[in-house]
Amino acid sequence: MFTEITSPCRRQRFLSRRELCLTEPTTTSMDRTTNKLNFNHIPLLVENLSSKPLDEHIRRLPKVIIIGVKKCGTRALLEYLKLHPLIKAPGPEPHFFDRNYHRGLDWYRSIMPSTKEHEITMEKTPRYFVSPDVPERIYNMSPNTKLVIVVRDPVIRALSDFTQAVSKNEVESNMTFRRRVLRRDGDINIHSSIVQTGIYVRYITNWLEYFGSSNIHIVSGEELVTNPLAVLETVQDFIGVEREIDGNLIYFNKTRGFPCIRILKRKRTSKCFGKTKGRNHVQTDSTTLKRLYDFYSPYNQYLFKVINKTFKWNLIQREK
Ligand code: A3P
Repeated sequence: MFTEITSPCRRQRFLSRRELCLTEPTTTSMDRTTNKLNFNHIPLLVENLSSKPLDEHIRRLPKVIIIGVKKCGTRALLEYLKLHPLIKAPGPEPHFFDRNYHRGLDWYRSIMPSTKEHEITMEKTPRYFVSPDVPERIYNMSPNTKLVIVVRDPVIRALSDFTQAVSKNEVESNMTFRRRVLRRDGDINIHSSIVQTGIYVRYITNWLEYFGSSNIHIVSGEELVTNPLAVLETVQDFIGVEREIDGNLIYFNKTRGFPCIRILKRKRTSKCFGKTKGRNHVQTDSTTLKRLYDFYSPYNQYLFKVINKTFKWNLIQREK
């Protein structure tokens, strides 16, 4: 008597590394009288894997993804990590799991750089963080994907987000920050995406459900500016690569007011981030700021409990 057992490959429609599962969703049968599994398909799997040399230079799905948060320093983090000899990433944000999912995993793979087996492919798309379907989709690609999240004082993040929207002409010309985040009666406009994105705990719990805390690394956007090397050490450890990004590669540029990258190949050349990163924010009144700080405060406290980590985000801190 045989019972059909659904293999993990059938449940996971997309698997990155087990090529056989991608192409041959299969079932294994069990002989109930002997309680032995019938491994008909296994030799095929071994054959397929062994035909690929390990040092082959091919496009691979990412092992690490910076999933957000928008305007918290995601570009700087990725550009710093690309200084590591083993880390490779595409330039633009792929937006695969939110906007391009219908194109399929082969498309996603095709936009990745070619790498060898021991190298790390990564990408960043901050929109993933707030997209409800994305945790499950990444999990289906590979439950072992490592996720990095940069968070920043949510009030400053909101100001940064609004400043960007203004600069891209995405808001009406008479729209102010206050009117975007507060309702006419002075309460917080919780329908504004600029406000919602900063309720980090609301999204993080969804990610934790799929990936657990061991596969998620949370980085302080503030520390990424004040002490990028320390942040990068923790990220390299999390990814599992040697710490190779050091003070020769990143330095603080006083004129720019931000860290910049030193390009060693060309003497005395450096790369600072463009005008869209580290810009002056729109001005707003202190009442609006205070309302926002009050609004976020309980969510921040909840976040700190959930992630077991605290950040100093409060109005007094900013006014110093
Ligand atoms: P501001 O422009 O509001 O200061 P993202 O890349 O996710 O859009 O984040 C943009 C933010 O990255 C910037 O927000 C800036 O504070 C931060 N950042 C971190 N390191 C930076 C650096 N070295 N140069 C410029 N901006 C940096």
